[in-house]
Amino acid sequence: MIPKQTVDKIIDAAHVEDVVGEFVTLKKRGANLLGLCPFHGEKTPSFTVSPVKGIYKCFGCGKAGNSVNFIMEHLQLSYPEALKWLAKKYNIEVVEREITPEEREQQTERESMMIVMQYAQRYFSDTMHNSDEGKSIGLGYFVERGLRADIIEKFQLGYSLEERNAFSNAAIKNGYQPKYLVKTGMSILSNRYVEGNEIIAQDIFDRYAGRVMFPIHDDGGRVVAFGGRTLSSDKKTAKYINSPETEIYNKSKILYGLWLGKKSIQNKDTCFLVEGYMDVIAMHQAGIENVVASSGTSLTIEQIKSIHRFTRNIVVLYDGDEAGQKASNRAIPLLLEEGMNVRLLQFPNNDDPDSFSRKVSTEEFQTYIENNTSDFLYFKAKKLKDETKNDPIKRATVIKDIVENISLIPDNIIRSIYIKECANIMEMEETVLQTEVNKLRRKASGKQQKVSNDTPPDDFVPPEYAGEQGISQEQTIEEDIFKFEREERDLLKLILNYGGLIVVTHAEDEDSNKHEVEITLAEFVFMELERDDIKFENPIHQTVLDEYVHELSENRLPAVQHFLMHQNPVISTFAVNNAITNHTLSPHWEKRFSILVPDEIHEAKKNAEKILFSLKARILQSYKKEKDELLRTSSSEIIDELLVEIKKLNALIERVSKLLGRVVIR
Ligand code: UTP
Ligand code: MN
Repeated sequence: MIPKQTVDKIIDAAHVEDVVGEFVTLKKRGANLLGLCPFHGEKTPSFTVSPVKGIYKCFGCGKAGNSVNFIMEHLQLSYPEALKWLAKKYNIEVVEREITPEEREQQTERESMMIVMQYAQRYFSDTMHNSDEGKSIGLGYFVERGLRADIIEKFQLGYSLEERNAFSNAAIKNGYQPKYLVKTGMSILSNRYVEGNEIIAQDIFDRYAGRVMFPIHDDGGRVVAFGGRTLSSDKKTAKYINSPETEIYNKSKILYGLWLGKKSIQNKDTCFLVEGYMDVIAMHQAGIENVVASSGTSLTIEQIKSIHRFTRNIVVLYDGDEAGQKASNRAIPLLLEEGMNVRLLQFPNNDDPDSFSRKVSTEEFQTYIENNTSDFLYFKAKKLKDETKNDPIKRATVIKDIVENISLIPDNIIRSIYIKECANIMEMEETVLQTEVNKLRRKASGKQQKVSNDTPPDDFVPPEYAGEQGISQEQTIEEDIFKFEREERDLLKLILNYGGLIVVTHAEDEDSNKHEVEITLAEFVFMELERDDIKFENPIHQTVLDEYVHELSENRLPAVQHFLMHQNPVISTFAVNNAITNHTLSPHWEKRFSILVPDEIHEAKKNAEKILFSLKARILQSYKKEKDELLRTSSSEIIDELLVEIKKLNALIERVSKLLGRVVIR
């Protein structure tokens, strides 16, 4: 662990323009710097760095953060790794905190497992190249499948002898503990029983005896698992056996080929997704390295996210057979939902990349891919034209499928482009498709709301305040997961940007004498929230609020930087996304923040009041709704009581504005 003081020192030293400037050419533009975004392909710079605020933000793809976030994102490092990278750059010595005994044990456990896997990989390769059985059976198999020696080497392929415990015995003889052989899934213990179920001995077996071995690497290139392919054609034997889930192998996270392919994925800004180990290897042999396979499981969201770190363009190359089509139909919605650009490619005659690559030259292979990759929409639309010519029912099914796919695209602009294209291709009314897509999106967000156990927002919105951006239909559907989402967020935005402004309010002293006091806008907002015991519904909002209150209680008035640079990613992410808007990052933003004109101060105060008014009114309204509901369903004894409460609430709602009216605005 890196001690807090060192972290602070690193963050102080790592000026964002300096750190980003190491990777991106930046040009001065007013108070900011501008360059081409390193996270998405763009021709017009929209990647903005603000030295004053210590952050970057891309107005093209939305990526934003501080200098540490930049290194994490760009170099694909964890938080501590990014800090260490920066420490090195700025010659700051990092003396890590002692780790606890439990942490150490966990670490050495994982370390020991990694060491076993490294040994296993070397053992299997060595066996394949140097034993008679290995050479004739294992190496013979790969050579017969057309693999070149350099590719066999690159993928660290190997062979596990047929003898049922050859590997386990060799490992134990070399000092590896049976415990770790079993924990990694390399070996299996089998009990021998005598009568009475008493175990008298345990045998240790190899999981992969008689199989060719494909090591599976994590992002850092360490072997964490294996896939072993049988060489027998017996249908009863599983074709591939894969390592079980272990402390070092999280199946849903690891992608086969990512370690070898990530550079190329980033450079080419595209990733090919294939089905099998051999497909990944065949593509490399054909000179295409930006390729991964999900290996042994169907593609997961986590795997998609780890591709997304490098590119948002993906080409799905699944087999043309039924299993391949099914897998691809499962993968496409997930990919679209994650905001990926999805293209598809199919090889002729149900070939997979591996079998096709063996039939054609490397050039032909590459050309085929270049010429036959098409956007998922065109791919499906072509299918529609080819297969459903005279079958209106089938045509309707396919259109529904396409519309469903389109409805998953999170980006509004991209989605509407797809709708336009789709309407063109299918010769349909754009509005019809638009309506269909909207319906599906509403349905999907309705489902989400149910999951979060929330009711739809109240109809009641005070006329004076309708959210910072106004309420568009879209927003109500997509963003109001929590009832008071908008008000909470806008209050926090105000506090983050204008919290230090001095406002004048009336307070009562012990003798109920009113007099004017000067407090900060932030304190004013807290007072108002506290008075009515209002807690934010959205836990992220409450976390940010708590942090602000905490800082104030320590007599610090936090600047927006405090939140932007915060160690807690929940807080820094909220701040980056909400404290800075496109508007505030405009070249004139210095003016906006350092020399606030009286008008703007006035605005900030008025806005705070409006939002508080809206929040309180809506909370009261929602209480009233509950009571109304109760009134409808309860027995006569408590009706009188309820009526009194409702009357009180009605009066309160009316008085909210007066409550806030105590504030004198100068
Ligand atoms: P395939 O059956 O298409 O295998 O399964 P393949 O990669 O083309 O293998 P070859 O060409 O016959 O050697 C695709 C992927 O599904 C997983 C493996 O990751 C495989 O690469 N799989 C398949 C298993 O995990 N277990 C199996 O029994 C079969
Ligand atoms: Mn195959």
